[in-house]
Amino acid sequence: MYGPQIKGVLPGDNARKILANDEKYLSPSYTREYPLVVKRTQDIWVEDVDGNIFLDFTAGIGVCNTGNNNEEIKKTIIEQLDNYIHFALGDFYNDKAPLLAEKLCYLTPGQFDKKVFFTNSGTESVEASLKLARYYTKRPRILGFIGAFHGRTMGSLAITSSKSTQRKHFSPLIGDVTHVPYPYCYRCPYKLSYPQCNFWCVKIIEEVYFKRLCPPEDVACCIVEPIQGEGGYIVPPDGYFDELTKVLKKYDILLVCDEVQSGIGRTGKMFASEHWNLVPDIVCLAKALANGLPLGAIVGNKKYYTWVKGSHNNTYGGNALAVVAALKTIELVQNKYMENAKNMGDYILTIAKKWVEEYEFLGDVRGKGLMIGLEFVKDKQTKEEATKLRNTIVYKCFEKGLLLLPCGESVIRFSPPLSISKSAVDIALSIFKDVLNTVKRNFSM
Ligand SMILES: Cc1ncc(COP(=O)(O)O)c(C=O)c1O
Repeated sequence: MYGPQIKGVLPGDNARKILANDEKYLSPSYTREYPLVVKRTQDIWVEDVDGNIFLDFTAGIGVCNTGNNNEEIKKTIIEQLDNYIHFALGDFYNDKAPLLAEKLCYLTPGQFDKKVFFTNSGTESVEASLKLARYYTKRPRILGFIGAFHGRTMGSLAITSSKSTQRKHFSPLIGDVTHVPYPYCYRCPYKLSYPQCNFWCVKIIEEVYFKRLCPPEDVACCIVEPIQGEGGYIVPPDGYFDELTKVLKKYDILLVCDEVQSGIGRTGKMFASEHWNLVPDIVCLAKALANGLPLGAIVGNKKYYTWVKGSHNNTYGGNALAVVAALKTIELVQNKYMENAKNMGDYILTIAKKWVEEYEFLGDVRGKGLMIGLEFVKDKQTKEEATKLRNTIVYKCFEKGLLLLPCGESVIRFSPPLSISKSAVDIALSIFKDVLNTVKRNFSM
């Protein structure tokens, strides 16, 4: 049978035992949405420990872009295992890292010489980008966005502002960070409409923030997600980044694009910045870069790499297994999956946008490629967030064998592996629609 197979009540018996052990020994800070205990994965399919089969619309939270446990990547990793697993790139040279660095310099936007620093995760890439920007500019301040998610280590967390739980009790974080509103047109903080707003959300940076709060000569960089991820899969309007870069250039403020979630083909282009011809000074990468092995990178204009030997380093960054996996991932994404992401994304968007008319609780559908968000509201006029309803939909889909994840206050993200076929998309959409119809009956009662 082609499709999810759920054998009974979830979680099953085997899952229950593992969940009990997990609860006993693992940190309560993890953010599990439902009790899925994974045993095996293959492409878009996930088998749990009780033999239930799920259709993956999460890609392991934006990681397994070429499909879960991709066979070609597995083969590449196994070949590398015969040579060596690890020999610290920070203290020696290895034969693979420069190949990936060269590829990333070539692929990232901007026709100028670049350099790469390898990390192990998204938050570590963000930390490295902030340190590089401060080191080069010798300026202390950082400009970030409300709703942003850049990670949870102290530096990144100082800019992260998607949920206050992520910050509560962790102060003091690094200081000198100024947050400005993100161009969230569906919920414009200034209650304006695009394009009549004339990009007030950019103008206010100069006219208010820089004048009264944050001297622009003190700002090292502005860090932005080209599409805000954890904040709610929010797509800025066309023209926004042109306006923003004009302001940043005027004050020699570096532009750091956090493509940790939106990069590596997810949006139908290798990097989401490319949708707006945006050329960042530094790009942060992680998540899908090595399709599941821990690897991150920052790629930046060569002229900013003024930091000296010993000023920044790590033990695992550029690990050989992760690097070969990344080289293969990029090849596969370039050759086939990026185009599929665009085609499947357009297909889903066309269908899901029609649902906005059909369901009174679906307020907005937006996205690019396979980074699609559906925002649920209690009322289309007030736009009050329907968080409980959104959570119910996510859980009901899980019970029917469709894996989804929430983001923002009341958004569901569609972010399947980029390898997904049209028939699998149809299965997912049909399960999702069934669930929407079920909740619709209760919603109108
Ligand atoms: C845009 C963005 N930046 C940074 C991070 C942090 O990545 P990590 O969890 O690997 O530290 C994430 C994770 O979701 C992210 O979406």
